[in-house]
Amino acid sequence: MSDRLRIVVVGAGGMGRAWLTAVEASADTDLVAVADLDLDVARTAAGAVGRPDLPVGTDAVALAAQTGAHAVVNVTVPAAHHPVATAALFAGLPVLGEKPVADTVAKALSLAAASQVTGQLFMVSQSRRWNPQLFALRDMVEDLGAIGTLTTEFFRAPHFGGFREEMAHPLLVDMAIHAFDSARFLLGAEPVSVYCEAYNPPWSWYDGAAAASAVFAMEGGIRYAYTGSWCSPGADTSWNGAWRVSGEKGTALWDGDHEPGLHADVDAAARPRSPHSGIDGALHVFVDALRTGAVPMGEVHENVLSLAMVEAAVRSAETGERVLLDDVLADAHAEALRDETCPEVRDALAAWPSVREVLTTRPAAH
Ligand SMILES: NC(=O)c1ccc[n+]([C@@H]2O[C@H](COP(=O)([O-])OP(=O)(O)OC[C@H]3O[C@@H](n4cnc5c(N)ncnc54)[C@H](O)[C@@H]3O)[C@@H](O)[C@H]2O)c1
Repeated sequence: MSDRLRIVVVGAGGMGRAWLTAVEASADTDLVAVADLDLDVARTAAGAVGRPDLPVGTDAVALAAQTGAHAVVNVTVPAAHHPVATAALFAGLPVLGEKPVADTVAKALSLAAASQVTGQLFMVSQSRRWNPQLFALRDMVEDLGAIGTLTTEFFRAPHFGGFREEMAHPLLVDMAIHAFDSARFLLGAEPVSVYCEAYNPPWSWYDGAAAASAVFAMEGGIRYAYTGSWCSPGADTSWNGAWRVSGEKGTALWDGDHEPGLHADVDAAARPRSPHSGIDGALHVFVDALRTGAVPMGEVHENVLSLAMVEAAVRSAETGERVLLDDVLADAHAEALRDETCPEVRDALAAWPSVREVLTTRPAAH
């Protein structure tokens, strides 16, 4: 594929507008249509990127057929991720989707199977992973030898209004997924279990649990400790959180906004810096993957365990028990098999030998 990738963006809300700007600005892509259930929202967003001429509609697949699009960028609300992405994949369209992959792990598994059945790439853009400073911190992790502990502190006091102030677990579901995903990336280790407490400080302006502390056991016995609050006025951490990696040979620190620092008596290996940043970086990698057939970071199978960490943390907070990730995956698989309406996807799910194995075995090409 040598031509520019023709893209329909579906979901033209706050984040959709950021994606419209990215797709419009990229030398790799042509923005050919905007879909949203609210046509006025779609028209206004198209105008805001200087493209009031763009076709708009409520159905991304119909718009793609009408405009000869090659791919869909899905920036709808989490509950719409599964139906919108499934329809696109079965129409032969690869999908680049906003996090979370879906609103439940069960639906995320259905999407991974749909990607297998259709042979179409589904990549999840977990935008905070695409950060050259995080890549530099990962390089430092390699210099530290065996890792004992990884910590993230996240403390801010945003007043969002709207759905986040009404959710049962706004911090864990809407925000902590970024940190959990980055932890997997930094450690190159997958989660095994979690104990989590989620609570709402008395002065909180959220209905649900605006604060949480979670301790994950990761593969290799590493502990990942996340503690955060969305109602913590003063001395804000970065939106990326503040990070500490404690290893055999020393420590690495990252404040989330500046270059990370290595505090260890080691000869740090010189490595090339990642050129990719934010959603522009994710878009570039997606286009490149379609051109080369390479499996990109964020390919759906690889992303699902980040959402599983959220679901496991919420389950632990609600039951007071330590939760095994494999139990969350097994329950999600059973739910996906029970609820799947597409026979081909159901057959693919039923053929999986083990959910964890399918999610963590990286295909050579897509
Ligand atoms: N990576 C980040 O930092 C980041 C930041 C904000 C939001 N997000 C993610 O981006 C996504 C969108 O969030 P947002 O804040 O823009 O939400 P939003 O509510 O502002 O916009 C979502 C839009 O999707 C439309 N929509 C819903 N269902 C649809 C469907 N079936 N077909 C077509 N359009 C549909 C809605 O009409 C709405 O205009 C979410 O998944 C959210 O988690 C990511």
